[in-house]
Amino acid sequence: MPFPPGFLWGAATASYQIEGGVAEGGRGESIWDRFSHTPGMIENGDTGDVADDHYHRSAADVDLIADLGLKAYRFSLAWPRLFPDGDRRLNQAGLDFYQRLVDRLLERGIAPMATLYHWDLPQALQDRQGGWVSRDTASRFVDYADTAFAALGDRVGHWVTLNEPWVSSFLGYHEGRHAPGVRDLTSALRAAHHLLLGHAGAVDAFRARGLPGEIGIVLNLNPVDPASDREEDERAAILFDGNLNRWFLDPVFRGSYPGDMVDHYVGHGADLEFVQPGDLESIARPLDFLGVNYYFRSIVSATTDGLGWDAQRAPEGVETSSIGWAIRPDGLRDILARLRADYPAIPTYVTENGIALDDEVGADGGVDDPRRIAYLEGHVAAAEEAIGEGTDLRGYFVWSFLDNFEWGLGYRPRFGLVYVDFETQERIPKASARWYSGVIAANGLG
Ligand code: FCB
Repeated sequence: MPFPPGFLWGAATASYQIEGGVAEGGRGESIWDRFSHTPGMIENGDTGDVADDHYHRSAADVDLIADLGLKAYRFSLAWPRLFPDGDRRLNQAGLDFYQRLVDRLLERGIAPMATLYHWDLPQALQDRQGGWVSRDTASRFVDYADTAFAALGDRVGHWVTLNEPWVSSFLGYHEGRHAPGVRDLTSALRAAHHLLLGHAGAVDAFRARGLPGEIGIVLNLNPVDPASDREEDERAAILFDGNLNRWFLDPVFRGSYPGDMVDHYVGHGADLEFVQPGDLESIARPLDFLGVNYYFRSIVSATTDGLGWDAQRAPEGVETSSIGWAIRPDGLRDILARLRADYPAIPTYVTENGIALDDEVGADGGVDDPRRIAYLEGHVAAAEEAIGEGTDLRGYFVWSFLDNFEWGLGYRPRFGLVYVDFETQERIPKASARWYSGVIAANGLG
């Protein structure tokens, strides 16, 4: 059997994308509440105010996860539910929500994988100290993480510190396309460093408690291809890879930032004085696993403005999803091969993989999504090949369990295994959900 016994077949979500209930149970404002309510930031003016109303429907949602036969469920905790002001005042009702969620998952035999930071920073920390630009935010994160460990650590087997710190730092603080909407290179680099420091502190806090579970980080990693064999495109691809992949993999697994990228950023006027002695040592503390989120390969050509590259998600002629992301299952196999070649061996999970389609409810009331089935089949096959080639792959999580709020794109892209009618909140498992149940029952493609 290519997939080992106990392989964790799951699906993933994130708090801001599904919960709604943003002003309930004592929850504080997050940077995504503020950002999504800022005119022009989100397609169609959408916000996460209601989303999938999971805050009120979590019990039934867990039942549905169980009905589909999923072995594991990856979700995130909303930091502002626990610490509404970003300071030390705990909001017990917020913690209780996740206690109930975890208990119900366990009652149904589903392994919880809890992500501590999937981008919804308390707005108070942004207002008070510029969010992740401030080193103190890492300390606030460690306090929050430790509270979660104390409350849930006896029952949550898998902890993720950060989801995709590249996205939080570079899209949030350099490109400004995500909350908090800052556009400044040094701010993005500071944010990235403080995110990693927060990660490191959380790992230390977790180890100090001697908890039974495992802890790791989730990175969004893409294979990067130059758009042509012109030297400038090849150089741009190396830099793009340095920004997206190596800027996070190298500190976490080698204890250093890549030198070519340090030079590149400094050459663009960045100031890296925020790195203090000992930081990289703690950031490189051993982890129990790496989570890889994979969606597409990046095709890179050189430009003379910005940081010197232009990255496409899909070259001409390649089949894409409804949001233009290239469908390239080979990229999953390649990124896992690259990790084996360049970094120390570590248990690995595919923590997100999935496709946005314009799903519709058919005349019979069902949702037929053959292209999602084909996409998932291709990627599960690629994961299987990677196992054959030596990756210690322990699980695979579809993004997403439910259609949900897709950040800057609002509710248009539908990524779910389960269709959500955003008017009525009705859930309809798509054909792909039934197909996936079969894969899980067979522990593979069969
Ligand atoms: C990832 C995010 C996840 C979702 C998918 C489509 O970058 O982690 O929340 O938006 O993309």
